[in-house]
Amino acid sequence: MTHGPFVRIERDGPHATVIIDRQDKLNALNPEVIDGLGSAFGELREDPGVLGVILTGAGEKAFVAGADIAVLAEMDSMEGVRVSRQGQEVFRAIERFPRPVVAAVGGFSLGGGFELALACHLRVASENARFGLPEVGLGIIPGYGGTIRLARLVGLGRAIELTLTGDRFDAVRAAELGIVTRVVPPGEARAAAEELLGRITRNGPEAVRLALESVYRALDTTTEEALAHESSLFGLLASTSDMREGMTAFLEKRKPTFQGR
Ligand code: COA
Repeated sequence: MTHGPFVRIERDGPHATVIIDRQDKLNALNPEVIDGLGSAFGELREDPGVLGVILTGAGEKAFVAGADIAVLAEMDSMEGVRVSRQGQEVFRAIERFPRPVVAAVGGFSLGGGFELALACHLRVASENARFGLPEVGLGIIPGYGGTIRLARLVGLGRAIELTLTGDRFDAVRAAELGIVTRVVPPGEARAAAEELLGRITRNGPEAVRLALESVYRALDTTTEEALAHESSLFGLLASTSDMREGMTAFLEKRKPTFQGR
């Protein structure tokens, strides 16, 4: 399934992989790539068979080397706001995707490409991955949510240092900072993401979905509201046959078979 010239989806059982393939420009994000991502995740959202998604870049050189600088170079102020809002909207849809989204990062994940990885729920990287927010060196700031998401992930001090210096860092440093949860040999990021997703999607699908929902809702509300929301989701799961199956299987000392309801 293709979504414009540069984005395609591959399916493997309950997992889907969204691939950005614009290798001659290191998978840089031009408007067609952004539209393609929006359309791909929109389609996957409607597919009840999809329990998890991997997002990756084609080739070994780059996940995504940033927003397309040739496009940004032409923008005026109004266009700048529009470009930023359009990217934010698509990245937000990825962050609010109801199933886990894992970024499999090999090679460069810079600028908008790093922001895209940050919009995913989890990240794994190969040893050749290179991260960074070089925007200030171009006279701009990250405009796809990076100034918000990086600070949430690594803390204010580290986020400010990385954002203001534009320093590039490798996969090992990304793991130390908690940005990636696994570092694997070059060429193995997608397989590692598959493995990680497999460990998630063998669990109760609705429990996984509502756990994500609870975690992300808490970022946007007060602690009291977040706790009340967590309780209502907890209660909602008690109405599922999967909850009964999970607990019965434990008591019967067997593996559960979840139906997603
Ligand atoms: N926007 C547009 N084009 C990009 C791009 C981007 N963000 N990143 C790479 N490209 C293009 C290059 O212009 C080049 O195109 P060309 O062959 O038509 O000249 C092609 O991709 C290959 O990149 P190149 O720079 O030749 O590869 P390299 O291995 O020498 O360097 C990078 C790789 C990632 C260090 C370098 O491409 C780079 O610094 N890219 C910009 C990163 C950035 O600032 N991103 C944030 C943007 S907000």
